[in-house]
Amino acid sequence: MKYSKYSTVIIGSGIAGLYAALKIEQQVKLPDGILLITKSRLGESNSRYAQGGMVAVMKDNKTDSVASHISDTIKAGAGLSEFNTVKFISENSDAVVKDLLKFGVEFDRDENNNLCFTREAAHSVRRILHSGGDATGKMIEQALCRKVSENENIEIYEQTDAVELLVSSGECKGVIIFNNDIGEYETIYSPAIILATGGLGQLYKYTTNPVGATGDGIALAYNAGAVMQDMEFVQFHPTALAIDGDENRFLISEAVRGEGAKLCDADGVEFMCKYDERKELAPRDIVTRANYNEMQENHTDCVYLNASCIDSKKLAKRFPTISKKCLDHGIDIAKDYIPVAPASHYFMGGVRTNLKGETSINGLYAIGEVASTGLHGGNRLASNSLLECVVCAYSAAEYLKSIELKTPKQIDEEIKSIIDKYSNEDIIMEELDIQSLKSELQNIMWNYVGILRDKKSLEQANELLYRLKADFPRTEKCLNREEYEFRNMLTVSQLIAHCALDRKESRGAHFRTDYPNTNEECIHSYIVKEVEEYAK
Ligand code: FAD
Ligand code: SIN
Repeated sequence: MKYSKYSTVIIGSGIAGLYAALKIEQQVKLPDGILLITKSRLGESNSRYAQGGMVAVMKDNKTDSVASHISDTIKAGAGLSEFNTVKFISENSDAVVKDLLKFGVEFDRDENNNLCFTREAAHSVRRILHSGGDATGKMIEQALCRKVSENENIEIYEQTDAVELLVSSGECKGVIIFNNDIGEYETIYSPAIILATGGLGQLYKYTTNPVGATGDGIALAYNAGAVMQDMEFVQFHPTALAIDGDENRFLISEAVRGEGAKLCDADGVEFMCKYDERKELAPRDIVTRANYNEMQENHTDCVYLNASCIDSKKLAKRFPTISKKCLDHGIDIAKDYIPVAPASHYFMGGVRTNLKGETSINGLYAIGEVASTGLHGGNRLASNSLLECVVCAYSAAEYLKSIELKTPKQIDEEIKSIIDKYSNEDIIMEELDIQSLKSELQNIMWNYVGILRDKKSLEQANELLYRLKADFPRTEKCLNREEYEFRNMLTVSQLIAHCALDRKESRGAHFRTDYPNTNEECIHSYIVKEVEEYAK
């Protein structure tokens, strides 16, 4: 096996990982260099598909304020957002937007060259920047990818999966990585491992997330003994394009509702007024449950979004990606109703971190969707995620500047035994039908740990997931990426089902039909491997 050392290793090349690489390279002394690894191609990630935009509380925007953004975020967060986190992230948005502009990100501007702001659900003002109309993630990512690729101090490994963290005595000393193309492992030693591995939408049958969103970073950190937070809070987006047979669903941005589109049934009857006075612009969890309820009551697979009230030229200019995708399916969004249904979209829980990105394990950091900073609480406010990615990447870089990054010298027996598992080349493994195992898991999560949950469904999920895990033969090394991903999906699904069963109340995105009310005494939930023997 090959061995290397780096001053910092960043795992993941979404917006959090890319921006962290650039800021760390700019600010921190790196005697052993910086390594950015990604299991796909550089830039392939959830970030790439972000549509609506990024929250920006700009100092010269007289219609907005940090106080107003804090208030909206905390209201949407259903009592679980942490004030100091929200304040820190909101206050830093002006600085990071200006920095992104310097890195070549072009946000959309009006005819007078002023930045354009849009509105999304539960925001009290227009404060969301967008780029390329509805291609915000792609545009930010392309600009950052260009800078990262040009930077000769950032080494990049593509098609490479992080498969296990090297942790002993509460300290992370490196990571085992696996090149899926050539089937080879490498041991990387480093004093600073940064997880920027994104979310887990693929745990569910219907999702807006691309195939790589399998919760890897969460499983890696959990297996290494890190504290996990609020694992029961999975956000379902209310309006994914519901085309038969398409389970990886294309998103119809909330910004379409922000510009005036209405939800209705097949006959055009609008229904959101039955659920919330803010109607289409109520927080995401409320709109999701409304759509779900309408579908259940009417025994249909979707509801509809009617955007025909928006000027057709504006629709085409503001939402070019959505217009094209729908047209590819024969839907003209200026005239036709768009079939939409909820799909898993974002994970509010994750690896507990502070604002420097520190986890409970020394030397292990987490930023972006994999982290749970306390910003989103029980329900994320639209477009706060991209902001969190960049502010937390920036503050982690600031923190690393203040510490000495010395590659660990002492490699003890515990670390050696982890490395040994991957050095053994004699093990012969038969191929498994991962695709059908994955479908089974995704069905369990959708049916029993989905938008509505109760004791019975969650116990059933625990039982089924336990059996799936017991039958999965890979306890140490796996054969290929698909197997590693599936094993991570199993671990994270069990954590979600377990924590959802434990939280005996409804709050934000976690809705228990057997406990429909919020219990003000409930606070964050935490889970750590050592103390848990769940699902047995
Ligand atoms: P990601 O962008 O998901 O990147 C994760 C990276 O980690 C990838 O490069 C992946 O390949 C890599 N990786 C994962 N596991 C491993 C491993 N084991 N080894 C090596 N590499 C690994 N948020 C907003 O704020 N505004 C929006 O408008 C918006 N729209 C969205 C639209 C869609 C369709 C989706 C899916 C999400 C949207 N979100 C939006 C959410 C937002 O895009 C994500 O939360 C955010 O981009 C996450 O960024 P990240 O850098 O943390 O992770
Ligand atoms: C959207 O455009 O609706 C997604 C925005 C988000 O997830 O923040």
